[in-house]
Amino acid sequence: MDKIVIKGGKKLKGEVTISGAKNAVLPIMAAALLAEGTSRIEGIPSLQDVGTMVKLLRVLGAKVNLFDHAVEINAGNGLKSIAPYHLVSTMRASVCVLGPLLARLGRAEVSLPGGCVIGSRPIDLHLKGLASLGAEITIEHGYVKARAKKGLHRADIYLGGSYGSSVLATANVMMAAVLARGTTYIENAACEPELVDLADFLNKMGARINGHGSHLIQIEGVDKLMGTHHSIIPDRIEAGTFMVAGAMIRGSDVTVRNCNPEHNHALLDKLKQAGVAVTKTADSVRIRRNGLLKPVEVTTLPYPGFPTDLQAQIMALATVTPGISVITEKIYPDRFIHVSELNRMGSKVFLEGSSAIVHGVKHLSGAPVMASDLRASAALILAGLAAEGKTEVHRVYHLDRGYERIEEKLSALGASIGREKED
Ligand code: EPU
Repeated sequence: MDKIVIKGGKKLKGEVTISGAKNAVLPIMAAALLAEGTSRIEGIPSLQDVGTMVKLLRVLGAKVNLFDHAVEINAGNGLKSIAPYHLVSTMRASVCVLGPLLARLGRAEVSLPGGCVIGSRPIDLHLKGLASLGAEITIEHGYVKARAKKGLHRADIYLGGSYGSSVLATANVMMAAVLARGTTYIENAACEPELVDLADFLNKMGARINGHGSHLIQIEGVDKLMGTHHSIIPDRIEAGTFMVAGAMIRGSDVTVRNCNPEHNHALLDKLKQAGVAVTKTADSVRIRRNGLLKPVEVTTLPYPGFPTDLQAQIMALATVTPGISVITEKIYPDRFIHVSELNRMGSKVFLEGSSAIVHGVKHLSGAPVMASDLRASAALILAGLAAEGKTEVHRVYHLDRGYERIEEKLSALGASIGREKED
C-alpha cells in the first residue's frame, strides 16, 4: 500500500487540468447496458472506481475495452443479471446497474451495498421508484431481487427522502424508465450536473428525457436504445478540491482548467466571502489568495447547494482561517470522520450535532494521519499543504478511488508532495 508524503508551506502557482467526473462516468457506464450496440465514452478518468465498474460490467456479460481515457462497452447479447457482493461492497455506485438490468432483462439481482464510513446510506428510494415502475422487489440473502415479468410501465414517482433528493436513485429510476411503457414523471428529482450528463447520454442513445437538471423529469419510454458516442463532463469535485488548494496558502495563484465554473457556484461564492480572488472564464477558474482569510458559514445541500463532497475540503481551509467558521452537514449528518485526523494536525474543530465549529489556528502541524474515505483523504492532503513540517497520509487507496494522479497535479503546481510505499 502507498502513502502520500507532503512537506507543507509551499505556495501553489500554475495551471491544473481537471479530469472527467467520477460521479458522471459510473452511472453512464452502467447506462451503456441499456443499448444493443456499442457505446464509446471519452474523458474517462483513470480511477480505481472506473476499474471496478469495468469488472462489474464484464461479470454481467458486457464486452468492455478500456483505452487511454476512453472506454467502449457492448452489452449486445448474453447479459447476466447478478451483480455480486465482492464488487458492490467495494463500490456503492455498483447499485447503478439495477435500473438498466431490470429494464433490459426484466430481472436483476444486486447485492445490497451495506454500510459506509460516511454514514448510513439506504437505497429505499431506488427500490420505491423501481417498484412504482412495476418491479416486484424482495431482499433475500443480502441481495435485492427485482423482477418485472410483464415489463416495466410508466409511473408518477416522488423521489424525496428525509435528506432531500437522491442522486443515484434518480439515476436508477431514469435508466429503468427509458425502456418502460408510457411516460414517467420523477418529482423531487436530483438536479446534479452528473445526472444531466447521464440524461444527455441516454438521449443520444435514443431515449426521450426532458426536464433533466430540474426537479421534474419527464421520461417517455421507447422500445430500444442504440450505442452512441459521449464525452464526460469535468469533475466539479476534483475542480473544487484544487480551487480550495489554491486558497490554502497565502501567495498562491492557481488556474483550474477544463472545469465548468457554473457547477462550482456554491464553492466559489464561499471562497469569495473568505476573501479569495476568483476570476472565471467559460471553462477555467483562477484562484488567488493574498491576504488573511475570513471565516465562513457553510451548509451542505443537494445541488445547486454546497456539495457534501467538498465539505471536508472547505473544513481544511477553515482550520487555517482566523475566527470561527461553522460547517453544517445536511446530506450525511455523520460525515465528519476527518475531524479527529485534522485535530491531530493541530486544528481546533468541535462537533455539535451535525455541525462542526472550526476555530481557525495560526499553523497546522504536519503529522501522520489516516484517510478514512475519499473526500477526507483530499482534506488531509489540503491540510498537509498548509501545515508546518511533514504530513504522511496513510491508506491512500481511498484517494485513488476518485482522484486521478492528485499528487502529480499538486506537485506540478509547486507543492512538495509524493507517493511512497508504506514501510
Ligand atoms: N438516501 C436515502 N434513501 C435512498 C438514497 C439516499 O435516504 O434510497 C439519502 C442518503 O442517505 C443521503 C441522501 O439521501 O442522506 C442523499 O444521498 P444520495 O442518494 O444523493 O447519494 P448517492 O447517490 O448514493 C452520490 C455520490 C456521492 C455524493 C452523494 C450526494 C455517486 C457515485 N455518489 O451518492 O459521492 O456524496 O451523491 O451528493 O454519484 C463521493 O464521490 O465521494 C461520494 C460519496
